[in-house]
Amino acid sequence: MRSNTALSDLSGRRVVVPGGTGAVGEGVVRGYLAAGADVVVPTRTQERAEEFRRVLGDAATDRLHLVVHDYTTFAGAEQLADEMERRFGGVDDVVTPIGGWWAGKRLWEIDESDWQSAFVGLAAAHVAVLRAFLPRLNTRGVYTLIVGASAFTPVAGSGLVSMEQAALLMMRQVLEAEVEGEQRVFALVLGPVRTRLVDSGDPDWVSADQVGAVAVAASGAATMGGREIRLRTQAEMNEALALLQTGKPAGTGAVVAVSTLEPMEGRREDLVEVLTELAPQIRAEPGCLHYSVHRPRGGADGPLLVIQMFTSIEAFRDHSAGVADQIPRIGALLAAPPAPPTLFEPVSQSAVIERTGNGA
Ligand SMILES: NC(=O)c1ccc[n+]([C@@H]2O[C@H](COP(=O)([O-])OP(=O)(O)OC[C@H]3O[C@@H](n4cnc5c(N)ncnc54)[C@H](OP(=O)(O)O)[C@@H]3O)[C@@H](O)[C@H]2O)c1
Repeated sequence: MRSNTALSDLSGRRVVVPGGTGAVGEGVVRGYLAAGADVVVPTRTQERAEEFRRVLGDAATDRLHLVVHDYTTFAGAEQLADEMERRFGGVDDVVTPIGGWWAGKRLWEIDESDWQSAFVGLAAAHVAVLRAFLPRLNTRGVYTLIVGASAFTPVAGSGLVSMEQAALLMMRQVLEAEVEGEQRVFALVLGPVRTRLVDSGDPDWVSADQVGAVAVAASGAATMGGREIRLRTQAEMNEALALLQTGKPAGTGAVVAVSTLEPMEGRREDLVEVLTELAPQIRAEPGCLHYSVHRPRGGADGPLLVIQMFTSIEAFRDHSAGVADQIPRIGALLAAPPAPPTLFEPVSQSAVIERTGNGA
C-alpha cells in the first residue's frame, strides 16, 4: 500500500540507506526517491541489487544508486562513506533498516553462531555504519535508526532480537548525549510492518511506505531535535507525521468525561444499580469508547467515580442528550444536585484507548 501523505521536498539531498533492499528498507527508499533525494542503497550482493531494482520497478529512477559493497564491517562502511564523498560530494541523511527477524531458541539454547549472526553481526553492522557516517553529517540531515518494539517488549524465543534492538535504542540515547546538538539522531521503533513479504491485512499495522514517509518527514523537520518515535499503530504513525510536519502533537478529538457522584445516605447501592443498568446502553453508543464506575478502594462509603471516554466532543454531546432523561433518576439518589462532568482530552493520539467492556 502506498502512503498518501504529502512528502517533504528533499531534492538535492544525498541519502544512504544500508539495509534498503529489505522489506522495510523498500518503503524508506521509495519515500526518499519520491521526495526527490538521491538515494544510495549499498547491498552486499549483486543478486540482491538486481532483485531490488526489479522490486522497485518504475520507482527506480536515475536518482537511485545501487552499490554492491559490504558496508557491515568498520572498514567496509568507511570505504562506502569515502566513496560517497568522492562521488556525490558528501552525505546528508542516513537511514538504517539493517537486519531482520530471528526466532526459534530460548536464550540458554543459543549457540555461538546464533549469537554472532543475530547479535554481534547486526550490532557490529550498525556501529560500523554509524561511526563511518555520523561524523560527516551536519544538522541539516538526520541519522535514523530503524528498530523494532521488541527492544522493550520481550518475545520468548527471539531474545537475541530484543537484546540487539534494545542495544540500538540505547545507542541512540548515548549518541544524543554525545553529539551535543551537532547532529540529529532519530530512532523509528516499529511494531509489525506490512511489507512486500508480510501483509497480515490488519489495517492498524504501519506499512513500509508509511515508515518511509515518517523517515522523510524527520529529514524535512529541519528544526526538530533527534528523538525516539514509536510507530506501532496507525495512530502513532499519524501522530509522528503531525509532530514532524507541524512541530505540534496531533489533536485527537477524543474526550474523557469524569463525574464524582456523592450518594444520599443509605442510597449508595441504589445508585450503583442505576449506573450499572445504564452501562450496556452507554457502551452501545457509537461514539463511546469506555464507561466504568468506581468506588473508593477498600471502602464501602464515599463517592462513586464515573469515567467515560468518547471519540469526540460531538459524541459526548450526543451521549448527554441520550441520557438526559436519566438525570432526574440519578439526581434523586444524590446528596447534592448532579454537576456536569469534568472533561479531559488525551495529551497525545497514542494515549487513546480501545473500546472496552470493563467497569460496572
Ligand atoms: N519487517 C517487520 O515487520 C519489522 C518489524 C519491526 C521492526 N523491524 C526492523 O526493521 C529493520 C529491517 O527489517 P526488515 O524486515 O526489513 O529486514 P529484511 O527484509 O531482512 O532486510 C534487512 C536488510 O538488512 C541488510 N543486512 C545487513 N546485514 C545483515 C545481516 N547480518 N542479516 C540480515 N540482513 C542484513 C540486508 O541487506 P543486503 O543483503 O542487501 O545488504 C537486508 O536486506 C530491522 O531492524 C527490524 O528489526 C522490522
